[in-house]
Amino acid sequence: MNILVTAGATREPIDPVRFISNYSTGVLGCELARQAQKREHRVILISACLAQAKPQGLRSVDVQTARQMAGALKAKFNWCDCLIMTAAVGDFRAKDAAKKKIKRGRRKKLVLALRQNPDILGNLGRRKGKKILVGVALETENLKRNTQYKLKAKNLDVIVATQIKTNSYPFGPVRMDALIMDKTGRWQQLRRVSKRVLSRILLDSIERIVL
Ligand code: CTP
Repeated sequence: MNILVTAGATREPIDPVRFISNYSTGVLGCELARQAQKREHRVILISACLAQAKPQGLRSVDVQTARQMAGALKAKFNWCDCLIMTAAVGDFRAKDAAKKKIKRGRRKKLVLALRQNPDILGNLGRRKGKKILVGVALETENLKRNTQYKLKAKNLDVIVATQIKTNSYPFGPVRMDALIMDKTGRWQQLRRVSKRVLSRILLDSIERIVL
């Protein structure tokens, strides 16, 4: 298969020295890209601000903002049979990023106006055709209900979801709990799996769809 993988955390500038982002590190996306290439799929990684070095020997495109990620995906979407969207895309950007550094001055507070970014995966879900679309979800509550909703709303084949709790932090090279759900309604709950093992299980379920 031709597999597009996105990884990392998008960044939205506030001014030339500050940005809005999130805790995603890109470990899962990079591991998926590595494992998919090992299985002899053709892989392109679209990465946003990884907290680790990119896997070597992979075709890749680097982006920073959500809109740049949308542009890179638009250019590569026709090429792929499967898109695995692990990147944590910022839902909001500064409405007017300042061209010059915002000085502290005497102000006691600073109010930022934010605008919504496009739902990249949701938009691609509307024109997916026979492609396989895989999403990832992080939730702080109602894991199963929210995951089911996202699977349907974004027209996905498979979704991997995890719940953030005080004793389980899913960012970086850690083991994590994961709920894998597919559009036929099948789901499996994995406990404390490494991201390498999770990647293999996820690729197995993607490969089963095309068999
Ligand atoms: N996603 C996307 N574009 C966005 C936000 C999310 O493509 N603007 C993708 C993510 O890469 C992920 C999936 O959609 O694969 C679910 O992301 P998540 O942040 O959990 O969902 P949201 O749609 O942002 O919903 P909410 O913020 O309400 O949880």
